[in-house]
Amino acid sequence: MITAHTRVAGVAGAPVRHSLSPLLHNAWLAEAGIDGVYVAFAPPQDGFPAFAEGLRGGAIVGINVTIPFKQQALAAADFASDLARAAGAANLLLFHENGRIEARNTDGEGLLQALATQAPQLDVKSGPALVLGAGGAARGAVAALLEAGSPQVIVVNRTLDRAEQLAQTFGSRVRAFDRPDWAAPDAALVINATSLGLGGGAGPVLPWKSLPDTAVVMDMVYKPLRTDFLAAAEERGLTIVDGLEMLIRQAIPAFEAFYGSPPPPQVDERRLLLDVLEAGG
Ligand code: ATR
Repeated sequence: MITAHTRVAGVAGAPVRHSLSPLLHNAWLAEAGIDGVYVAFAPPQDGFPAFAEGLRGGAIVGINVTIPFKQQALAAADFASDLARAAGAANLLLFHENGRIEARNTDGEGLLQALATQAPQLDVKSGPALVLGAGGAARGAVAALLEAGSPQVIVVNRTLDRAEQLAQTFGSRVRAFDRPDWAAPDAALVINATSLGLGGGAGPVLPWKSLPDTAVVMDMVYKPLRTDFLAAAEERGLTIVDGLEMLIRQAIPAFEAFYGSPPPPQVDERRLLLDVLEAGG
């Protein structure tokens, strides 16, 4: 039931209608009996700063931020967590009642926990990681991988300039390329952090044969769950990690920040979201 006390949070993106976050957070809210609601916002492509500024003062408690606003979200904040600053991107904004806007990044935590769950054999310290993309999602991944001890992160992006800027922010352990046709005989991990494949299109193309048999392949895209990218990795016999696990894991600290308590353990998040994905929702 919505009351005059309802705590409102949400997700902002463009596009945002594909997002499963409202379903996930509202299932947790219902199970926990919290007077709260979580909705999707679609600010115009060029309207994120005005949107965030309008929420200053605590009209709503906070938002998750998705494509393409993660870097702008950090810029909109008055202060930020170390991880958000390291990433240069935020997936979580909190609108404090004193008017201050706080930025956090829970994507890195979500990413590492998804890897630990679906590829427990992976040791990110054992070899280079290849990150496809150079937007906010990629930045979050690079920050988390470096923190977890990855010896080298290779960033590949269509726009080389953007990959180079990213590499510059993170220093000598990160290298930038604009095409993935380099040999990667010792890659421990490959992550798609581009929006390629979102909504069912073709995913990034990789020289699959040059990857070692031990490489773990992850896609941040979760709609569809079995992206072309993951299908190609599976065909090559590699361990895959899907974006749904990361979505769930990054949402847990966000929920806690919005509503003051961790999500209730009774909800089978994966089943809930898989049902929707399988029904084409
Ligand atoms: P986010 O902040 O969520 O990461 P983003 O900043 O829009 O979103 O980043 C999207 C990523 O997908 C970028 O790396 C983008 O490449 P460019 O920097 O060259 O734009 C990548 N991307 C999107 N569409 C692409 C396409 N058709 N081919 C290759 N890369 C693409």
